[in-house]
Amino acid sequence: MTAQSSPQPAPASTRALAPGRVNLIGEHTDYNDGFVLPFALGLGCTATVVLGGEGWVATSAQQDGEVATTTCAPSAVPGWATYVLGPIWLLADRGVDVPPMRIHVDSNVPLGAGLSSSAALVCSVVTALDEALSLGLGAEESLALSRAVENDVVGAPTGGMDQLVSLRAVEGHALFCDMRSLETSPVPFDLEAAGLAMVVIDTRAPHRHVDGEYAERRAGCEEAARVLGVPALRDVGADDLDTAMERLGEDRLQRYVRHVVTENDRVLATVDLLRGGDVAAIGPLLTASHASMRDDFAISVPEVDAAVDALLEAGALGARMTGGGFGGCVIGLLPRAGVEHAIEVVTQRFGDGGWQEPTGFLVTPGPGAHVVPD
Ligand code: GLA
Repeated sequence: MTAQSSPQPAPASTRALAPGRVNLIGEHTDYNDGFVLPFALGLGCTATVVLGGEGWVATSAQQDGEVATTTCAPSAVPGWATYVLGPIWLLADRGVDVPPMRIHVDSNVPLGAGLSSSAALVCSVVTALDEALSLGLGAEESLALSRAVENDVVGAPTGGMDQLVSLRAVEGHALFCDMRSLETSPVPFDLEAAGLAMVVIDTRAPHRHVDGEYAERRAGCEEAARVLGVPALRDVGADDLDTAMERLGEDRLQRYVRHVVTENDRVLATVDLLRGGDVAAIGPLLTASHASMRDDFAISVPEVDAAVDALLEAGALGARMTGGGFGGCVIGLLPRAGVEHAIEVVTQRFGDGGWQEPTGFLVTPGPGAHVVPD
């Protein structure tokens, strides 16, 4: 033993950052093979992987204690740790020899607000693991692995938009995604050049029955596609809508189909306007999207509708709920000079309604997941 007094080198660590998202438009269209137009937040999660030690250990700056496992055990660990350890379990299940390691996560995406804190978590871990273990996953496999954690390990029947944008977002752009081909294309979204701002209002409305309601909407859309004899509602065009309504007969399915078909159209129209450089002109499409979610898809709640109405009354060019629904956040497109007033009007409205005070902040499109210097 000669090295008694020589210092041990610090174990090498790898760190990756992945963002949460705002969905600009295209809600509940992803699992219908349709179109979405989200962008990445400047808020995100960092995952730091340190190889070595014993077993697989997860820690979080937002949670107490550590979770250690040597095997796949989704039911035996707290929810947050499932997202951290899920990618490891799936890799091991696929025959990858995953060495012992510690993974520490630290996120500033508000939880449960519909801003995809879970996609930020899982995508940061997948990106850090890819780098630390030299997996060479590539874009498609990173996406498939991140989606599998949510769909197969956690068991949430979500549609893939959140992971796609967290991995592939481009700074300064919204990301047009075709959820059938999984092709993405960045669309310029320069709010500042247009003299505009996008405000996010976190209504802090408690999510009501969100998991069951989400699954019910998805099942309803799949049932409607079966009745209409198409692979997915993506295959129903706006011109087919009247015929589709007649064939469906039932009010609930008619409303779901009308929402999805018109929402896909609104996404395409929004992309056209943004590509033409007319940011202000997308406002009415955002507001129409909200009306469709409220009246046809029935996924809004009073606090969310009140925030949309207050923003519009305060001068927003357009406003809508963003994310899966039943609570969460509202976005508003505003002239820059009108932001403070708009937030005051919303806050006042919530006070009048006897609801929790909402929070408001500005967002601009940030970059997708990437490795960062430790
Ligand atoms: C949640 C899901 C997404 C998508 C949206 C609704 O965020 O995770 O896959 O379905 O709801 O557009």
